[in-house]
Order: sequence, then structure tokens, then C-alpha cells
Amino acid sequence: MMLTVKRRSTRLPSPSAEFTALVTGASSGIGTEFARALARRGHSLTLVARRSERLRALAEEFSGAHGVHVDWISADLGDAAQRERLDAEVLDRGRPAQLLVNCAGFGIYEPFVVSTRQRELEQVRLLVEAVVDLDARFVPAMVKRGSGTVINVASTAGFQPLPGNGTYSASKAFVLAHSEALAEELRGTGVSVTAVCPGPVPTEFFEVGQPLVVHRIPRIFWCSAAQVAEDGLLAAERGATSVVPGSLLARAFYAPYRTAPRHIAAPVARWLMAGELKRMRDFGAESEPQREQPGEACEVADP
Ligand SMILES: NC(=O)c1ccc[n+]([C@@H]2O[C@H](COP(=O)([O-])OP(=O)(O)OC[C@H]3O[C@@H](n4cnc5c(N)ncnc54)[C@H](OP(=O)(O)O)[C@@H]3O)[C@@H](O)[C@H]2O)c1
Repeated sequence: MMLTVKRRSTRLPSPSAEFTALVTGASSGIGTEFARALARRGHSLTLVARRSERLRALAEEFSGAHGVHVDWISADLGDAAQRERLDAEVLDRGRPAQLLVNCAGFGIYEPFVVSTRQRELEQVRLLVEAVVDLDARFVPAMVKRGSGTVINVASTAGFQPLPGNGTYSASKAFVLAHSEALAEELRGTGVSVTAVCPGPVPTEFFEVGQPLVVHRIPRIFWCSAAQVAEDGLLAAERGATSVVPGSLLARAFYAPYRTAPRHIAAPVARWLMAGELKRMRDFGAESEPQREQPGEACEVADP
């Protein structure tokens, strides 16, 4: 009698020295853990972020621990020219991306008028424009090869509009909708797309954006960066289009935020974001809006 061993189906491409898994935001937090988990699975890596010393150290650590080839490229992904250079360098190094993890990000946790125009735009360029750009650069080649995986890190913040964190939550809603639509378009091509939607994850993200909302969410619903990466990869292996990483309890806790009607979600969001909304005090009624002078690039026609 022949014994058939049923293998768990996996949508992740097999590790190969000819290809790379490109991870953005790899210098810290969730991105580092995605890179570590992929190295453990035998994937060659390309680590991307701005801080080169960190990338260099992590590249040495991962190649030493797992015997995989690790490249790193320092780039500010909010800058279109640096994304162009990143694409060219990946091409030069001769290892096409068969896996792409878009993880680089930061969040602004203060009301729109307290923040600055420049910072709000930086956030959109990194969280939205860079994700669309990198997907557009790497996915067509994956489709031509008939194999590839994209993981876009969204957030439970994308499940509803969050006052005091408006551009961030809107950007993550974009990443989620973009990923789910792309996943449907690519069905049957051999390329999968998974949006990973974590709740609070203790990383440097907390220091950069100083979110107060996380203190209103019981710790039992937080998730470690390593768990986000592991659950994200398992979801991609299953071909899931989106996942909330963490325990079943955490998934159950965040699920209603995704489906609640806006008239219920809005007061709950206002309560959750009470700390951020207090930062509105920093924008006194008497203070002038932070207007920038037209820069050199802004030409004004003579009358
Ligand atoms: N932590 C949370 O609670 C949480 C929850 C839900 C979703 N997320 C999402 O998870 C992702 C990773 O966040 P994290 O928690 O791991 O935060 P983190 O520890 O602060 O890591 C952010 C990463 O993004 C990189 N980065 C930031 N700006 C960049 C830029 N302009 N160009 C290139 N790389 C840039 C940083 O590297 P360099 O500074 O070296 O460039 C770093 O590697 C983000 O998209 C975030 O929105 C986080």
C-alpha cells in the first residue's frame, strides 16, 4: 500500500539563492522579525531602511546564524529617487525579489492641525506611495515568473477612521484595500498578497510616534514583533488576503472594529483617541496655522 504524505500547501516561494526576499523597515521592530523569520526559513534577504549601521549588523547576524546570503541597501523610501535607486541596485545585484515585505513606517499621533504639512506628506509618501511604488516595481516580474509573495504591513488602525491619527489610519486603510484588491486580481497567477494588520506591538514605533491610544488597549491584545512576523508568514503560506496577528482573543477583539457601522465606530474611536485629541491644546486658538513660505521650486507667475 502506498502511503501518501499530505503536505501543508504553501504559497511562499521555496528559498533559492537565485532570488531574494526584500524586506523594508528591516532595521527595527516588525521588519527585523520578518527578516529573521525568513532567514530561518532559508531565504536570501535584501534588508532596506535608512540606518545603514543597523542593516550591516543585522545582515552579519542573519547570514552567520542561518548561512543565507544577505544584502542591505540604505534608502529613504519616502523619496521617489531613492526608490528608483533601490530598484536599480536590486537589478544590479542579480537576485530578483520573489518575496516583498513592505513594512517601513511611522505614525503621527496628534491632530492634523497640530502636525505639520511636511510631516503629514512624509507619512503618506512612506505608508502609501512607497507601498504602491514597490508593489508596482516588483509584482509584474513575479507574475511573469508565475511565483511570488507580497506582504504589506497595514494595521488595525486601518479598520476605522481615527481622529488624532487621521492620516495614519487612512493610509493603513489604503494599504489594506490596495492589498485585498491586488490579491483578488492576482488569483491564479501564482502570486499572493497578504495584508498584515497588527494592533499595538511594542517597538521603536512607540518612541517615534508616541501613541497614547495603546494604553487604552489591554496588554492581553498586544502582540510581539516576532509573533506578528510568524503569523504574517503563516497567513501568506495559507494564501490569506489579510490577518490580524496574535491570539484568537486578540482577533476576536479587533474584528468588530472592521465591520462596525460608522455611527458606532466614531464615538468609540473618539474615546480611544482621547489622549491624542488632548494634544489639540497645543494648537491654541490664538496661534497662527503653520504655513510655509513658497519654496524655490514653487514659481509664481508674474501678473
Ligand atoms: N508597532 C505598532 O504598534 C504597529 C502596529 C500596527 C502596524 N504597525 C506598522 O508596522 C510597520 C513597522 O513598524 P514597527 O512597529 O516595526 O516600527 P519601528 O520599530 O519604528 O520600525 C520602523 C521601520 O521603518 C523604517 N523606516 C521609517 N521611515 C523610513 C523611511 N523614510 N525610509 C525607509 N525606512 C524607513 C525604520 O528604519 P530607519 O529608521 O532605519 O529608516 C524601521 O526599520 C509600520 O508600517 C507600522 O505602521 C506597527
